[in-house]
Amino acid sequence: MQKKRVLIVYYSYTQQTKMQLKKFILGLESAGIEVSQERLEPLTPYEFPFRTNMRLTAAMFLTFFQRRMAISPVSDACLGAWDCIILAGPTWSYHPSGPVLDFLDRYGSNVCGGKIVIPFISCRSYWRLHYWTLKRRLGLYGSKVEKPIVFMHPQKEPWRFFGLILQLRGKIMRRENSWFRQRYPSYGHSKQQGEEAMEEGKKLAGKLLNDWCG
Ligand SMILES: Cc1cc2nc3c(=O)[nH]c(=O)nc-3n(C[C@H](O)[C@H](O)[C@H](O)COP(=O)(O)O)c2cc1C
Repeated sequence: MQKKRVLIVYYSYTQQTKMQLKKFILGLESAGIEVSQERLEPLTPYEFPFRTNMRLTAAMFLTFFQRRMAISPVSDACLGAWDCIILAGPTWSYHPSGPVLDFLDRYGSNVCGGKIVIPFISCRSYWRLHYWTLKRRLGLYGSKVEKPIVFMHPQKEPWRFFGLILQLRGKIMRRENSWFRQRYPSYGHSKQQGEEAMEEGKKLAGKLLNDWCG
């Protein structure tokens, strides 16, 4: 029997999507699924961390208006026959990130048209508008968009908001026992969410092997 093949198209700015994908892929591969990855490479990426509050505010503002971030051409291998495509990346100001939006504009139809696509989202807490945007755009290309796989930062508000801002400004506190670190131990996803990502990979593998994706 021919192996089931999954394409993962992704962008990750602070490596949270990438970390979660790593586990997700382990789950898929442990069940014998063949996985190919396409990393979206912005031509002029945002600096990390943002050097000033002004630059961070400008990024938040522009991404709110879905500003595209031009990417390098994707490889021709993306145009193959896939049993499923995972479109992964962070939420930026409620929307898909700039590189993913550019991917959709330029390659969405050719790569994802008529295929089963599962959005894979890493965010602090807001993902619905991001998902709806992907669903609407991909729907125009005749893709069958499945329920998204979503990972939200597990820390409590308001700490996870301030923690994100501090992280993006490169100002996260180093002292383990500081007042803030006790409330916000670390930025991003937890180890447990990594395990959940692996389970999601296994779950998807099971569906693909049973010729069902839904
Ligand atoms: C410019 C920018 C805007 C963001 N806006 C949102 C947002 O509107 N909602 C949200 O939940 N997270 C937002 N985030 C947080 C990211 O979605 C979150 O940190 C995610 O885990 C990052 O994934 P990555 O490391 O793969 O880039 C934003 C991050 C950046 C850099």
